[in-house]
Amino acid sequence: MNFKVPKGTQDILPGQSEKWQYVERVIRDLCDKYRYNEIRTPMFESTELFQRGVGDTTDIVQKEMYTFMDKGNRSLTLRPEGTASAVRAYVEHKMFGQVDQPVKLYYTGPMFRYERQQAGRYRQFVQFGVEAIGSADPAIDAEVMALAMDVYTTLGLKDLKLVINSLGDKDTRDAHRSALIAHFTPIVGELCSDCQSRLEKNPLRILDCKVDSKHPAMATAPALTNYLTEGSAEYFTKVKQYLDVLGISYEVDPNLVRGLDYYNHTAFEIMITGDGFGSITTLCGGGRYNGLVEDIGGPESPGIGFALSIERLLLALEAKNIELPTENELDMYVVAMGEEAKLKAVELVSTFRAKGISADMDYLDRKMKAQMKAADRAQAKFVIVLGETELEEQVVNVKAMKTGDQTKLEFGQLVHYVLENK
Ligand code: HAM
Repeated sequence: MNFKVPKGTQDILPGQSEKWQYVERVIRDLCDKYRYNEIRTPMFESTELFQRGVGDTTDIVQKEMYTFMDKGNRSLTLRPEGTASAVRAYVEHKMFGQVDQPVKLYYTGPMFRYERQQAGRYRQFVQFGVEAIGSADPAIDAEVMALAMDVYTTLGLKDLKLVINSLGDKDTRDAHRSALIAHFTPIVGELCSDCQSRLEKNPLRILDCKVDSKHPAMATAPALTNYLTEGSAEYFTKVKQYLDVLGISYEVDPNLVRGLDYYNHTAFEIMITGDGFGSITTLCGGGRYNGLVEDIGGPESPGIGFALSIERLLLALEAKNIELPTENELDMYVVAMGEEAKLKAVELVSTFRAKGISADMDYLDRKMKAQMKAADRAQAKFVIVLGETELEEQVVNVKAMKTGDQTKLEFGQLVHYVLENK
């Protein structure tokens, strides 16, 4: 038998998991500062939620969902993203009734998409996302983008590009949709079979097609920007003004369309530029979804949010040679020679830990030299060696590993000494 992790998933081993924890801490601290509170929703939901929420015509719903029937004959789906679940919870728990709106939520957790495996694209990946639901103020759009950028800059990433677009309101979309159908209909036979079916169902998605991206009709397709209603254009201008006030630079890309159906008005992505990163350059994506709460059965409550995957974030840090300041130092390693000494070592290690000192010892009955080497590898700050003499005299030498200095102490003085000097 030769078991391997399932395709598109990965094990995160010690050495790597410290980086995850560091990133997750930075994210939590930032969410605290921006006043977003954590929500934890189930990893699976009814399939219909995603069909309605994410959209029937999207690649996610059509090709990428892990859908199964449970023993009670319910169709369930491992969540491919977090927005639909957050909105479901907002409606189910009547958060729209809370005095303080918008309700500002964040989440981190695994998402599942059956995608083709490649660098930066996994079948199980961890998203950090935020959702601000209950406000249609362009200032909150800017806040959400600022928070996304803050995650990357706090971790030391540069060479970032915030790309924004407005997808307009319903009237905008309807007018643009008609223009797209008129544009693509004469050449529809030259497009891939997916695009042929998109033409009637959701022509906007043709612009996002990877197969047909080089077709000449793509470059000349009517831009959505030209169909923005007055209200939508005004909204977009205000979003840009707020970004300017925040000192966040951005690029407007009229061709930015996102792969989920719920978006309108503001859509954005954060890309990484420069060398060292493979074909995946989008680190983060988000946008406004006025109407989604109603689609899921709640009252009118406009929302905006984004999500990024920690996997891509870590790949970007690696590509840019940014080391995270993760520490895994050990305060105290207790070397024990002989059975009696080992009894004492077990007792001391437990006392240290109870007093907030990280401590470890040998569990392979190794020789003294091997135990000292283990202490070195563990980056122990202090080491004590327990043998017959130490047990008789109840006194031990504490060695500070950085300087080599030794201090003679009674057992009872150890905790105080380490706490003072670690
Ligand atoms: P999305 O663009 O599908 O949006 O995904 C957001 C981010 O998740 C991507 O930019 C990427 O960092 C990461 N991601 C997506 N698929 C994968 C994958 N297969 N492997 C690794 N990372 C991946 C959403 O999911 C929306 N729910 C975002 C949102 C929140 N919009 C409003 N609120």
